[in-house]
Amino acid sequence: MSARGAIFPTRAGLLVATTHDLCTTLLRDPRFGRGSSPLSNREPGQPVESFLWMDPPDHTRLRGLVSRAFTPRMLERLRPRVEAITAGLIDGLSDEADLVSGLAYPLPVMVISEMLGVPPEDHERFRGWSETLARGLDPMLTDDLVSESGRAGREFRDYFRGLLTLRRERPGEDLLSALAGVEGLTEAELLATCVLLLVAGHETTVNLIGNGVLHLAGRGLLRHAADRPKQVVEEVLRYDPPVQLTSRVALEDTTLGGVPVPKDTPVVALIGAANRDPAVFPDPDRFDVARDPGRHVAFGLGIHFCLGATLARMEGEIALSALARAAPELELTEAEPPYKANVVLRGLARLPGRRGRLMP
Ligand code: HEM
Repeated sequence: MSARGAIFPTRAGLLVATTHDLCTTLLRDPRFGRGSSPLSNREPGQPVESFLWMDPPDHTRLRGLVSRAFTPRMLERLRPRVEAITAGLIDGLSDEADLVSGLAYPLPVMVISEMLGVPPEDHERFRGWSETLARGLDPMLTDDLVSESGRAGREFRDYFRGLLTLRRERPGEDLLSALAGVEGLTEAELLATCVLLLVAGHETTVNLIGNGVLHLAGRGLLRHAADRPKQVVEEVLRYDPPVQLTSRVALEDTTLGGVPVPKDTPVVALIGAANRDPAVFPDPDRFDVARDPGRHVAFGLGIHFCLGATLARMEGEIALSALARAAPELELTEAEPPYKANVVLRGLARLPGRRGRLMP
């Protein structure tokens, strides 16, 4: 728990929930929702919001329609592709390489692009849009960032409108074709969903992989990612969650943790703090690949629980275990690799490493 208490007000007029108990209550309790919080970070100029920013009943309807296309079967079909893309990226790493730009960054964007059916020659353009849109998630937005992120969003939607026309004429096996076939989803809603999938699915997964390599290789524990990838990925998600916080607003006058919360007050759920709550995780500041981190809230909870959690876990497990097999002695060469300047998304700007002594 924070030294300032389980829930405390900030000068900006927000409340901040710092314990596992309060964060889980906040995310599950229908008295809190999206409302019209200034923290909602709605993408400027976007005609239709994605369902991430909606409350029921709109959220329920749209998430239901999208989940119909986002099936376990589609994910399982992706597995061999994720393995092949990972193998190609790892093969392409030189003996001294930046693990962020060489592996963590390209993998998720290639996966989500393939999933949506974006041709390989357009993957590079995706990276640019994705990076700009992800920076637009930061609550400390400058005017420049707002307009840049608005422009990236417009370009992205224009691009997808074109691709959608092609897929309507000749449907493929991809998610875009599946979404195009979902009845009741308007074109604007479909485009907003594509933007959401790119933004929610890219930088977050980059950070999972990057943070994982940092904590594992930095402690000489990388080999465990090959022995027990699932458990290792869960501990990385708990210890250094790629999404550090999210927020809700009170939809009515209410209380949280005994503190009055007037209607429309924004409340932040500090995921990073909830995942280190000693009441739930003994010795929480210890990175421990042998623990059971089952109750972490890295993917949120309740109605907005991450739609891509299965995909993200699959990518994390494949990337970290493949790296562990290819470079079990990987050494990190920068003492304190820098994090990117984003408050919500916690991830490394770079992570230089060297294949260890045992490599052929
Ligand atoms: C390690 C990687 C990831 C992390 C840590 C993560 C985390 C989260 C969190 C915390 C939320 C809930 C936000 C809230 O309640 O305000 C969320 C929602 C969401 N995520 Fe993820 N995510 C990851 C990867 C992905 C991927 C790969 C995709 C899809 C390709 C994805 C798609 C979504 C969507 C669509 C939502 C909105 C769900 C809703 O509003 O009903 N995420 N994610």
